[in-house]
Amino acid sequence: MEELKPYLELNNCSKMPIVGLGTFQCYGEAMEEALDAALEAGYRHIDTAYVYENEAAIGRALKRWLDSGRVKREDLFITTKLPNIGFKRERVEKYLRRSLEALQLSYVDLYLVHQTWGLLEQGEDVLPRDDEGELLLDLTTDLVGVWKGMEDQVDAGRARSIGLCNHNARQIKRILRAARIRPVCLQIELYLYFQQRELVAFCRALDIAVVAYAPLGSPGMVDVFTEMGGETDMIPRVDALADPTVLEIAEKHGRTPAQVLLRHTVQRGIAVIPKSSQPARIEENFQVLDFSLDEEDVDQLDSLDGGRKYRLFSGNILKGMSKHPEYAYNDPY
Ligand SMILES: NC(=O)c1ccc[n+]([C@@H]2O[C@H](COP(=O)([O-])OP(=O)(O)OC[C@H]3O[C@@H](n4cnc5c(N)ncnc54)[C@H](OP(=O)(O)O)[C@@H]3O)[C@@H](O)[C@H]2O)c1
Repeated sequence: MEELKPYLELNNCSKMPIVGLGTFQCYGEAMEEALDAALEAGYRHIDTAYVYENEAAIGRALKRWLDSGRVKREDLFITTKLPNIGFKRERVEKYLRRSLEALQLSYVDLYLVHQTWGLLEQGEDVLPRDDEGELLLDLTTDLVGVWKGMEDQVDAGRARSIGLCNHNARQIKRILRAARIRPVCLQIELYLYFQQRELVAFCRALDIAVVAYAPLGSPGMVDVFTEMGGETDMIPRVDALADPTVLEIAEKHGRTPAQVLLRHTVQRGIAVIPKSSQPARIEENFQVLDFSLDEEDVDQLDSLDGGRKYRLFSGNILKGMSKHPEYAYNDPY
């Protein structure tokens, strides 16, 4: 069986557990219960964001675990993200301080720039919109300036590592030219039908780790964004968990479709952050390091990559998003 390390070594020598818990759309008590189940199952890497509005619930669960001594702070890898309304160098500190307060932590292991498009800061609304439901875009977003604000957080000891989400190769190059501290990782949508081969190769050449969000194909995301008033017609209606090839490989190994999808990605050296609120699935999604896919399986799964047309989180799933000058997905990668 191919030996796979349970963590990725980042370019600043820290280690990120290769399987983490996603937490988008999980709130309150359900979030606390999910976190209990995850820590019980062995997860130490948790992915949240200011805009997920669940940092306080995560903080309560973490405090219980830390106070009881069942887990040590240095064994945890906690990630959160700067909200779009904070995309100005001078605002980064405020939002990270708020996240730390909610999480009841003195530092995060990883702080990420959540997106490439800034929003106007109008009170506390994390996704401010006009009367037609269009996002109130801040058209002056300066991604290099935002990055400098992120570097300030490492200097101040509030973030051990910093990284990016959803940036394209051109934007990453621009940031790298000005960076004093390099991004340790890029968090991007990546799943069976959208395997992001070019962007992964680009990051690998720069020693930037890749973290896959929506690694199961994010079932349910169409409903979530439709409910939020987004334009969801363009989202491809696909179900990677029900793909016949995936089902066949799952049966061959006596594993579940989710485990096959996650293993396929971690076997490429890419971290995954599947989200579930169900304890049995949380445990299932963590059990991907004790089996491996053979060359034939990998070839078959690789061949299902359909490229950009299978991107889920794009266009105007939040109304107006694609009108921003820094909207990342007009470039090929
Ligand atoms: N940086 C960004 O812009 C960004 C964007 C999107 C997501 N993310 C992060 O990435 C995480 C993962 O992405 P995601 O939540 O969109 O998608 P995902 O992890 O691919 O899919 C989550 C969905 O799959 C279901 N599920 C989980 N395990 C399953 C299993 N073993 N079998 C069948 N269904 C299963 C979950 O339902 P149940 O909960 O009912 O199990 C949930 O509906 C997020 O939670 C978030 O932390 C980041």
